[in-house]
This record gives sequence, C-alpha cells and structure tokens, in this order.
Amino acid sequence: MHTRTIKDLSAAELRGKRALVRVDFNVPLDDQGAVADDTRVRAAVPTIQALRKGGARVVLCSHLGRPKGKPDPKYTLALVAPVLSALLGAPVRFVPHVVGAEAVAATKALQEGEVCLLENTRFEAGEEKNDAELSKAFAALGDVYVNDAFGAAHRAHASTEGVAKHLRPAVAGLLMEKELDYLGSALEKPKRPFIAILGGSKISGKIDVIEALLPKVDGILIGGAMACTFYKAQGFETGKSLVEPDRVEMASDLMTRAAFRLTLPHDAVVAPAIAEGGKAHAVKRDAIPTDEAMLDIGPESAASYARAIASAKTIIWNGPMGVFETKPFDAGTLAVARAMADATSKGATTIIGGGDSAAAVEEAGLASRMSHVSTGGGASLEFLEGKVLPGVAALDQR
Ligand code: 3PG
Repeated sequence: MHTRTIKDLSAAELRGKRALVRVDFNVPLDDQGAVADDTRVRAAVPTIQALRKGGARVVLCSHLGRPKGKPDPKYTLALVAPVLSALLGAPVRFVPHVVGAEAVAATKALQEGEVCLLENTRFEAGEEKNDAELSKAFAALGDVYVNDAFGAAHRAHASTEGVAKHLRPAVAGLLMEKELDYLGSALEKPKRPFIAILGGSKISGKIDVIEALLPKVDGILIGGAMACTFYKAQGFETGKSLVEPDRVEMASDLMTRAAFRLTLPHDAVVAPAIAEGGKAHAVKRDAIPTDEAMLDIGPESAASYARAIASAKTIIWNGPMGVFETKPFDAGTLAVARAMADATSKGATTIIGGGDSAAAVEEAGLASRMSHVSTGGGASLEFLEGKVLPGVAALDQR
C-alpha cells in the first residue's frame, strides 16, 4: 500500500480548491525570537509551489514550540510568514487565528495561487488531545487536506491526524513523500552492505531502533555516551562517563544477540569535564580513567567507522558520536559526516535521521552532500523503529 500524494490529485481536485496544508514550521528561534534556521520552511516550499501552480488556494498550519494549549506570543507563527514569503517570492497572508469564523473567512478570501498562514495550532488546547471538535474546525478550513509535516507525523494531534477523519481527499505533500521514500526504501530494499550508525547519550532512547534495525542491517556502529553503557556491560571502567545503570543488563543481552553486527568504539576521547577541552586525550576503551568522562569516540574508531562507511552502499545515521557542540569533542561526529559525504559522491545512499545529526551535518556545511537529510528527529526514529506514524496512517492509501 502506498500513501496518496498531491501528485495523485486530479486537476479538478485542486484548481480553485482550498488546500489545508499541515507543515512542520517548528523552527529553532534565536535569542531575539527570530527564525534561527529556516531548513524546515525551505523543505515545505516544493509542495506549496506545486499547489499554487495547480491553482489551489493554499492554507498553511503548523505548531511552533510547546506553548501548552494557550496563546503565547513567543511562539506566534507570524515570525515565520516573512521568511516563507521571501522563499516563495510571493505574499503570505498571516491569519492571527487557528480556527473559527475569522479563520474560515480568511481562507475563503484567498484567490487561486494565494497563500495564507494560520496561527500556531498548539495555541488550541484540543490540538495535542486530538480533540474531535477541533479536528472538525480544522476540516472547515479546506476542501482538501495535505500533510507535509513529516517532523510531526509521529504525533496523533488534531491537525496531523484527527482532521483527516473529516476532510477528504487527505494526501501527503512532496516532502512527506520524499521522507517516506528514502527511509522506507532503506528499510525495505537497501543496497548492501547496509549499515546504521547510532549515537547520542542514552541507550534507552535508541534501544527500540537497535532492535528493529538489527535483523535488517549488515552492521550497527555505536557512538556517543551510550557506548559507555555497553562498556559497563563488558566490565570496563567508565569513570565519570554517562552510564545508564538500569540498562547495563539490556546492553549485555543485545551484544550477545547481535554478536559481530554491533560495533563499539575501540577508543574514546576523554576529559575531566566538557569545559576542560584542553585536557582532552584519547585512550583505549578499557583504559578510561576513573576521574574522566568519555566525550567523543577516539581517532582510531573514527577512522575505522569512516572505512566501514566507505565500503557500505546504504548508510543511515542517527545521533552524534560525541559532544559535537563543543570542540574538540566534535571530531568523531565530523569524521562520520565527512565519510558519509564522500560515500554519497561514490554512489552510496546516505540518510541522516534528523535531530542532532542533521544539525551537525548542516553546521559542517555537508547537508547538500547527503542523499537525504530528514526534517524529523523523533519522527524518523519512530519510523526506523518500525512504528506506524499516525499522521501518515490517517491519509488516503492506494
Ligand atoms: C520536532 O521538532 O521534532 C517536531 O516538530 C515535533 O515537535 P514536538 O516534539 O514538540 O511534538
């Protein structure tokens, strides 16, 4: 089964129709409250332009931040309207309402090809509760529903799931389609060797994805502080490193079952504290000093991970190898990012699973050298875990 997309809509289903488009404009804001990174806004542009070209009247809605069900000026979508307008090269009318008579009137006032952006969906208490009345109120804002918010597709909220019960056709946008294609193809028909690189601080957040990927991949390379929970299971000293004591047994069991398919870093970069980067040094994994913490994978591991990446044909990466926001603990993450960029040039399919790894790749200026950088952190992780994303399941299937 495939999710229907805007490409499956007939010309008559679009021209003159109000397309209610759920986008993920949950963008980072800077200290002044301005959009700090417009990646997610840029990612929605192809869908918006395709709908405009088809003569639709485009009504956009999104959440921004976690305003807890009531208006909070800090999280107004008005901040995003000018950013989108500049990217589209067309006016974007900001509507200071989420739903209701004024919002409906604003959508009806649109001409073919025009665009409006509604206020933050999470200003409504019913949004995160997937309230039926609010879902109906969203449905009144369009004649067709388009979900392009892959980043929010793991949430069963009124604007991502409930609305589709009341508004048909309900189809995926081009970004949603691209995300599902890349992640889905990697899982279903990967070119082999297929490896996954999983990092981050906690094994607890990655356990389900490790379990789900193990039967599918040729290897999983582990990085980040979560390697230390595995080290602990092997009986190594982990010093001041972040370890999840209640997951040590689980880590041990996983290593036994995964055998050679699970690779831990052979060495680690350690220091007394993150703020003491000047004292950073590399040690073998069984020689972490009692008064220091692992803050990155070591240079030997970075080189061997780069070799593994170079010989793979499909690579999925989720989670940094170390504290990449702070030099010199970014070296392992950068080495993986560069190796993935080189692998892409040699024909491999490289996928960055959103969140911190996407930020790291963006910061390194390597995003354009990956096959796909997902716009969804939590959503891509849940997809890789094999979970059904409610925002996708709610759409028309063909
Ligand atoms: C994200 O940034 O991962 C999505 O926009 C979802 O946001 P949320 O975690 O606040 O639901």
